[in-house]
Amino acid sequence: MGLGTVVHVVGARPNFVKMAPVIAALEDRADVEQRIVHTGQHYDARMSAEMLSDLEFPVPDIFLGVGSGTHGAQTARALEAFERVLLDERPDFVCVGGDVNSSLAVALAAAKLRIPIAHVEAGLRSFDWTMPEEINRVLTDRLSEILFTHSPEAATNLAAEGIDENRVRFVGNTMIDSLRRFEGRAQERRPWEAFPLERGEYVLVTLHRPSNVDEGEQLRRVVTALMRLGESVPVLFPVHPRTTERLRDEGLLSGLEQAGVRCLEPLGYLDFLGLEIGAGAIVTDSGGLQEEASALGVPCFTLRPNTERPITITQGTNTLLGEDPGPIADIRPRELEHRPARIEGWDGHAGERAADAIAAALGARRARAYA
Ligand code: UD1
Repeated sequence: MGLGTVVHVVGARPNFVKMAPVIAALEDRADVEQRIVHTGQHYDARMSAEMLSDLEFPVPDIFLGVGSGTHGAQTARALEAFERVLLDERPDFVCVGGDVNSSLAVALAAAKLRIPIAHVEAGLRSFDWTMPEEINRVLTDRLSEILFTHSPEAATNLAAEGIDENRVRFVGNTMIDSLRRFEGRAQERRPWEAFPLERGEYVLVTLHRPSNVDEGEQLRRVVTALMRLGESVPVLFPVHPRTTERLRDEGLLSGLEQAGVRCLEPLGYLDFLGLEIGAGAIVTDSGGLQEEASALGVPCFTLRPNTERPITITQGTNTLLGEDPGPIADIRPRELEHRPARIEGWDGHAGERAADAIAAALGARRARAYA
């Protein structure tokens, strides 16, 4: 007899990368049924379909099509639509990753229906409540029954919030599982040659946080720094749709390109990972990229005043720049040392450990039900 059914939920780009290894590991078990729900928070081909195909992600069973909107509207649409899925499917467990609006909506719907939740990448804290992700993380953790952590500080953060340690499982970093699985293929593509550039000579840039792109003055400061960087070294900048919209609104896009900054469409997983592997340095405000850069050993400069991933600073390649983009102009990729981090649990097998824990939890519930 099977142990039960798990509904996995994905919605935005980073979650595909985090959840793929857990789903793949559970797929290998005959005793667990899986269903995959895509909320549709990200929907453009480059943000969703291409990512899913690169990651060999199974085709989702259900699309909710919630799309873009204000935080309230997007979260509410996902909450309402996912509640209907739960009422129809009645799964034994819900598994969700990360800290995007879809994650919180899903956790709210499941908790109210008393369906247990496993949260992948639990316990990260920036302690910065101006970030929507911090609100999403804290609440999703509070509502989850199993909290999968990837670094020691996550357990400390959860303990400080009074969360029972029996709910916390250190499994490691599932995002790095995806990286280890696909890095060979990504490197073989040598995507830097299309520009045409040499490995190690360029800076790869991604910026999409509201704190850097939504407000005109900060966006202009960022663009000025990138233009100055572009005068000295090659810069590749795959631009997130939020950022493209803001750069167009402020009339800044053409100036960047004239300064030699190569503004690209968002890329699929393999091409982007390939560019990370070939980069001499990375400038970002993304969370996942701080981790991937550390695993690959590429120096990473994070344009934020804080990070929920401090292990990437203490054991990895990450440097926090704060809010001032000025120093970006002085990055010289050829002069920087590359040293891959060896972080416990960032070993390519975190998804398997999470899958084992989910199967064990399903087994324990089944045993209780028949006791
Ligand atoms: C979301 C997450 C953020 C994550 C990021 C990764 C929240 C609160 N934020 O931010 O934590 O780091 O995803 O990419 O959940 N858009 C498109 N096409 C798409 C998706 C979005 O054009 O496929 C545009 C829309 O104009 C939309 C804007 O991008 O309004 C922002 O998208 P949204 O998902 O709301 O937030 P992100 O900035 O992507």
